[in-house]
Amino acid sequence: MKRTLLKTSKIIAISAIIGSGSFVTFSAFADGWNPLTAATNRGSILNTRHNLTMSFTLIGENLHNGIRNNYKEVCIYCHTPHGANTQVNAPLWNRTVNTNPYTIYDKPTTLNRPIGQPGPNSLTCLSCHDGTISPDSIINMPGSGKYNEKAETTWNTAWLDSWGEGALEGHGRLREPTGPQDPGSCLRCHSKDGIVANFPFEAFVIGEDLRNDHPVGIQYPEGPYGADVGVDFFEPYKGFINTSGSMWFHDADGDQYPDKNEPRMYNTGENFEVECASCHDPHGVPIGGPDSNTEFIPSFLRVSNGNVHTGEGQSSGLCLTCHIK
Ligand code: HEC
Ligand code: HEC
Ligand code: HEC
Ligand code: HEC
Ligand code: HEC
Repeated sequence: MKRTLLKTSKIIAISAIIGSGSFVTFSAFADGWNPLTAATNRGSILNTRHNLTMSFTLIGENLHNGIRNNYKEVCIYCHTPHGANTQVNAPLWNRTVNTNPYTIYDKPTTLNRPIGQPGPNSLTCLSCHDGTISPDSIINMPGSGKYNEKAETTWNTAWLDSWGEGALEGHGRLREPTGPQDPGSCLRCHSKDGIVANFPFEAFVIGEDLRNDHPVGIQYPEGPYGADVGVDFFEPYKGFINTSGSMWFHDADGDQYPDKNEPRMYNTGENFEVECASCHDPHGVPIGGPDSNTEFIPSFLRVSNGNVHTGEGQSSGLCLTCHIK
């Protein structure tokens, strides 16, 4: 018999608690974070929505045991110290990656920079945000002997069920539900018509069609287009070579090191490209700079893009790191 995640009466009680607002700890109101979020968004990734144990939530991690495996560790949903994914050039990546082709940006671009499929530094994010793979789909589960090489590229729920703790109803994904009770969708609850309408996730469902998103897998201007650098685009620092390939970055503090608050371009074999992680750091970037313990810049951005009212950054500061406009 399947256990339901929550009894209806409890769901109503939770909705009432959340709806009333009085029970909710407000983090600072900043553009991009939901003001009702239980995540303090400071200190470390543990206090953000990228903590998939959900231990930061008001009710606690067991609430979500119906729809995802609870590995009880935070990094494990994305990284493993051993047995990492060999199919993708990303740091100790523990997640299944999607090998299907994406529909890529197709609008005319001013500089006609070459564009291709999303690179590794986008495939990481898309492994949850395109909705084809559940956030708990990992290759190397905690404990010894719980390793499945096939999970590098195949979303296999039988493998995930072998964990035995959690996901009693199904492995929820960040995609539109097929119906009100669809156990395969986080949005069955997390949408404006769902029981947690205060935490709607519609905007975070990126999908496999990237035509309405800022281009990724697109080359930054350089070389023969050099004349456009300095006219249309700011010139990045080009000297840094790291272990996973070469990186260009906007060296704001001039220390020739790619700090987390400096947007970067990745070369993983197709020249220097803009990817999801050019603009976002999935671990969070403190508003006061990498060494500070301030709240993170909303939406996991490397550079604040709004927040004129909190005074923490230049308006559209992220866009104006690369684009001269
Ligand atoms: C059956 C309903 C239900 C489903 C399905 C569900 N959630 Fe939740 N979720 C909740 C409730 C209720 C809360 C509020 C709990 C709290 O704040 O203690 C919540 C809170 C959260 C939060 C914290 C929100 C915040 O910022 O405070 C995150 C993150 C989250 N859920 C992620 C997910 C993910 C990812 C999935 C799919 C794998 C999912 N949820 C599926 C009911 C659900
Ligand atoms: C939600 C997924 C996710 C979680 C959880 C996560 N990371 Fe990451 N991490 C990433 C991604 C994606 C990258 C690659 C970023 C890029 O493309 O530059 C990364 C990169 C890294 C890197 C290398 C590059 C860098 O940014 O420093 C380290 C080290 C790292 N993570 C450590 C950790 C640790 C330690 C934890 C747990 C406390 C953790 N991560 C949790 C997604 C995650
Ligand atoms: C990391 C560098 C970088 C950042 C940050 C960045 N862009 Fe871009 N953007 C590019 C590159 C490279 C292209 C492709 C240029 C081309 O081929 O025309 C591009 C393309 C675009 C285009 C396509 C239109 C065209 O004709 O070129 C628009 C519009 C755009 N960016 C707006 C934005 C906005 C708005 C932001 C802030 C949310 C932003 N960009 C942030 C690098 C960046
Ligand atoms: C392990 C799965 C997973 C990976 C990998 C992942 N995310 Fe997320 N992300 C989530 C979940 C779950 C949430 C919370 C639910 C939601 O907001 O959709 C979230 C939320 C977000 C948010 C919204 C935060 C907010 O509250 O406003 C942004 C922005 C984001 N992710 C960007 C990224 C980027 C960029 C990457 C890659 C560098 C990435 N994510 C990798 C699962 C993931
Ligand atoms: C050129 C910079 C740039 C790139 C590249 C980029 N993003 Fe974002 N992203 C942003 C900005 C800016 C926001 C905040 C938008 C807002 O507050 O409405 C954002 C918001 C988000 C959100 C939160 C939902 C929302 O609409 O606010 C998610 C999830 C997300 N990005 C995921 C991704 C993923 C996945 C990729 C790669 C496929 C990616 N981003 C590539 C700049 C970028």
